[in-house]
Amino acid sequence: MIALLARASLVHLSACGWLCLSSLSPLRNQGYLNILFIHAALLCLTILNVLRTACTMLHAVVRPELAFTFLRSLPGVRRIVERSKRQILLELEVSLKSGAKEQKICELPTSGLSVEDILKTAARLKNGDYKQLFYASKLTGTIYASDTRHRDLCNTVYCDFAHTNPLHSDAFPSVGRMELEIVHMTSRLLSSDSRIEICGTVTSGGTESILTAIRASRDFICHTKGITNPEMIVSLSAHAAVYKAAEYFKIKIRRVPMDENGRMNILAVKKALRRQTVLVYASAPTYPHGTIDPVDDLSNIALQHGCCLHVDACLGGFVLPFLSDVEHESRVPKFDFSLPGVTSMSVDTHKYGYAQKGSSVILYSTAIMRQFQYTSVADWSGGLYISPTPAGSRSGGLIAQTWAAMLHMGYEGYSKAAHDIFAGAKKLREAIAATEGLELIGTHITMIVAWHTSTGSNIYVLNDILTSKGWRLAVLQNPKALHFCITPANLSAIDELITDLRSAVRLSQTLKTVPGGKAPIYGLAHGLPDRGVIKALLKDVQDVMLNNM
Ligand SMILES: Cc1ncc(COP(=O)(O)O)c(C=O)c1O
Repeated sequence: MIALLARASLVHLSACGWLCLSSLSPLRNQGYLNILFIHAALLCLTILNVLRTACTMLHAVVRPELAFTFLRSLPGVRRIVERSKRQILLELEVSLKSGAKEQKICELPTSGLSVEDILKTAARLKNGDYKQLFYASKLTGTIYASDTRHRDLCNTVYCDFAHTNPLHSDAFPSVGRMELEIVHMTSRLLSSDSRIEICGTVTSGGTESILTAIRASRDFICHTKGITNPEMIVSLSAHAAVYKAAEYFKIKIRRVPMDENGRMNILAVKKALRRQTVLVYASAPTYPHGTIDPVDDLSNIALQHGCCLHVDACLGGFVLPFLSDVEHESRVPKFDFSLPGVTSMSVDTHKYGYAQKGSSVILYSTAIMRQFQYTSVADWSGGLYISPTPAGSRSGGLIAQTWAAMLHMGYEGYSKAAHDIFAGAKKLREAIAATEGLELIGTHITMIVAWHTSTGSNIYVLNDILTSKGWRLAVLQNPKALHFCITPANLSAIDELITDLRSAVRLSQTLKTVPGGKAPIYGLAHGLPDRGVIKALLKDVQDVMLNNM
């Protein structure tokens, strides 16, 4: 029995190792990943039956995840797991090294290189990146602005302000002023009530906005209610940034399931509330399925309970406000500061705000809450210190290009982009709904279209077929599904996606696997109960990638 399970763990590790690599590096040349994949797939397929039998046996006796954890702690099993892990990491390292064509620079050149040489090297490195970025892109999300003039404008303004720093507002009042205007313009979109004094700051991206809001909410509620063991309630569909916040700020997470429409389950939220709940976290829309959580109900709950309510509008902040005129049964429900319980919102300007990467906005319903994100030091030998965001010095260039992007788009530009995305999402959804064997997830029409297979065919095989045609979709778990995030850069490829998707469905009904595909590994890794092994392996894989790219 032990030997059986040890072998099963080994398969588990091989499979997950490959999975982690491929998901961490979706756009890389697939060569080195394939080597690893073949290794993992062979191991996996050989012992799959053993694993199944073992799991079935364990299921009958104890909870499978506990059994795996126990087995992992046995010295013999631990040794096998470690050996297998080392082999996977070594193979990854070797394949990364052999895939890198450019000689690595590991120390400063004695004298500085010429401008021409540096530009040539940068161009060679860029040559290895995904090519079809800005038009008919087959990437889910990733690239948002497709208009060349718009991107050139952002780049020019960035260059003009790249040296500035809002920390030194006396030297660079320009970028301080631009930050204020970005916050004003964004908040106007997200509140129907101009009496509300919404305030905020610009941050470096969605994750920083979320981290900042969660820390401010924790400190605000802990301070006002005298709580020492804070908790927050998040849906299973909340973005992974909430786990980062929980780790950083020592907040216990209570996870609640989604309802049948993929929205945060209100009854489960009510059940999860405790005296020490400092925050309920909602999304508009969610990353996995593009559904808008029931923020209206959550607002009432937050008001009654006296806790904060954050709305993650990283994706929706510059899209949903422009869709209120759409006549459709899946109308956009209220999700913003027009609901009195909403205390903070994160809105990404570097996504549908069409600024270049490195910019987002965090907004609060009251100035008091914003103060809880500041750091002020009164007795530092370096002088009196105040900083509004986690970063100390910040690039004024990122603020300036965001400001330029917003002014260039204007209300009409955002509105047109939002309606184009809505039309693209509607078309893709209707095509999926009309395709036998596929089923949509979620009811709202937003930029994310998610689906799974309704018949016996394997969604991950479907993904393999689409990958072989150049598509890069998001692979989801719990439930197994795929999604495509529509942006102006991939909008013109929707018809091709529909055609490829339909033929892929037909093919997936006859195919068990695609040669070189990832379906067996995804299936196995997503189905296994022991997430601890996967979490640990992900960290080691990240090390190898950071050290060897
Ligand atoms: C709903 C949602 N929230 C937060 C984030 C995190 O944003 P970022 O990658 O800019 O940190 C994402 C990213 O896709 C998202 O979709």
